[in-house]
Amino acid sequence: MSKDTALISAACEARQHAFVPYSQYRVGAALRTAQGHIFRGCNVENKSYSLTICAERAAVFNAIQAGEQDFEALAIATEDGAAPCGACRQVLAEFAPDLSILLVTAQSPPTFTETSLKLLLPDRF
Ligand code: THU
Repeated sequence: MSKDTALISAACEARQHAFVPYSQYRVGAALRTAQGHIFRGCNVENKSYSLTICAERAAVFNAIQAGEQDFEALAIATEDGAAPCGACRQVLAEFAPDLSILLVTAQSPPTFTETSLKLLLPDRF
C-alpha cells in the first residue's frame, strides 16, 4: 500500500468515528509525520455548538501530544472533498506552512485531489 493510500484509508476510518449529532457532517483527518507515523482526528460536536472541534485540529493535537511536530501530509475525508476551514489552516500553518493536503471524497473507492497549505493559506499570519 502506498503512503498516500494508507493516509487516505486512515482519514476515512477516522471519519467513521465523528460525533456529529447536530450537523450530520462527518470529517476524518489523518496526518503523516516525518517519522512515518499517522495521527488521526475526527470532528466532535457539542450541544454548545462553538465547543465543536474540527477533525484537522484534533489530528494536529493528537500528534503534538505524542511529541511529533514535523508534518509531511494531511488527508481530510468528507462526503464532498471539502477543504479545511480557516481556523484549521491557521493551526496547521503553525507547524507546516507548505503541508501537502489530500482532499478526499469518502466513497468506495475514495477519490482525492491534491493541494497544499501554501495554496490554501497564502498570506498566513
Ligand atoms: N468541520 C471540520 O471538522 N473541519 C473543517 O475544516 C470544517 C468543518 C466540522 C465542524 C462541524 O462538526 C462540521 O464539520 C460542520 O461544520
